[in-house]
Amino acid sequence: MSVFTLAHLSDIHLGPMPRARRRDLMSKRMLGYVNWHQGRKLVHQRDVLEVLTRDIIERNPDHIAVTGDLVNIGLPGEFEMAAEWLRELGPPDRVTAIPGNHDAYVRLHPEQGTVRWLPYMQSNEAGEKLSPTPASGFPFLRRFGDIVLVALSSAIPTLPFIAAGRVGSAQRALLRPLLEELGRQGLFRVVLIHHPPLPGQVGWRRGLRDAAALTGILKESGTELVLHGHNHEQTEYELETISGTAVVVGVPSASEAVSGKIPAARYNEYRIKKLKNGWECEMVGRIVGEDALTVRECERKLLRAP
Ligand SMILES: [Fe+2]
Ligand SMILES: [Fe+2]
Repeated sequence: MSVFTLAHLSDIHLGPMPRARRRDLMSKRMLGYVNWHQGRKLVHQRDVLEVLTRDIIERNPDHIAVTGDLVNIGLPGEFEMAAEWLRELGPPDRVTAIPGNHDAYVRLHPEQGTVRWLPYMQSNEAGEKLSPTPASGFPFLRRFGDIVLVALSSAIPTLPFIAAGRVGSAQRALLRPLLEELGRQGLFRVVLIHHPPLPGQVGWRRGLRDAAALTGILKESGTELVLHGHNHEQTEYELETISGTAVVVGVPSASEAVSGKIPAARYNEYRIKKLKNGWECEMVGRIVGEDALTVRECERKLLRAP
C-alpha cells in the first residue's frame, strides 16, 4: 500500500512588514504595528521561514497544509505577500491553507483580504463531490484517495489583546454529519483548525470559545488526526473518539528564530498508510538547525498503528 505524505506548517507570521499608511493603522492594527516593531519582527524571521520552506519543497510531500496566521496585522500588502509565498510553496492543488486569528485582525473588505488565497482555501473536485462547500466557505474538503482534509475556520475579528477564535454553530452543525459520513466511507479524516481544539489547551484570552462543543463533535463523530497551530509549540494529545484514538498535534511557528540553543521553527511530516487491518500514521518532525541554514529531523514517532 502506498504512503501519503502530508507536511504541516503553521503560524508563518510573514515579514517584513509592509509600510503602513496612517489610515491603515486605525483600531487594533496600531497596537499590532507597534508590537511587531518592538519585538515580534525579531522572533519571526523571513530567512528562517525560507530555509524551512525550501526543505519542504525539496522533500516533495504529496500535500502541504498551512494552518493560519500567515500575516501579522492584516494590511492589504501583507495578504499579497502571503499569496506570493503560497505560490512559492506550491500550486493550489498541492497546498491547503486555512486562516488564523492574525488573518482576521480587523474586518477587511474581502477583496483586500484572504480572498487572495482563495485557490488554496477551497475544496478540490473529489472533496466537493463528497459534500458541497457551504456559501460561508467552511468547512471545505480536500480528498486524496482514502485521505480527506476537513478544513475549518476559527478566525474571528476580536478586540485588542484578544486572540480568541470560534468555529461557530453553523460550521459545527455541518461538521457532525460530515465526519460521520466520511467515517462510514472508511476515509482517514484529518481536521485542520488554527486554534487548539481541546478545552484548556489555551487560556480564555487566546482560546477557542467553543472548544468544548467542538471536542464533543470530534469524540462523537470520530476523526483520525487533528492538526493545529496558534500556540507556537509542539504538543500532542490523544482523544478517545467513537472510531478509536485520534491524535491532536500542534506545531511550532514556521518562522520563529533560533533563540539561544533552542531551535524553534519546525514543521511535521505525516506518513499515512492504509494497511489491511487499519491505518498507520507516523510523524516526522523537522527543525531549523542552530546554524539557521539547514533543516534536520528532530523526531520520528508512530502516532497510530492498527
Ligand atoms: Fe500565531
Ligand atoms: Fe494564532
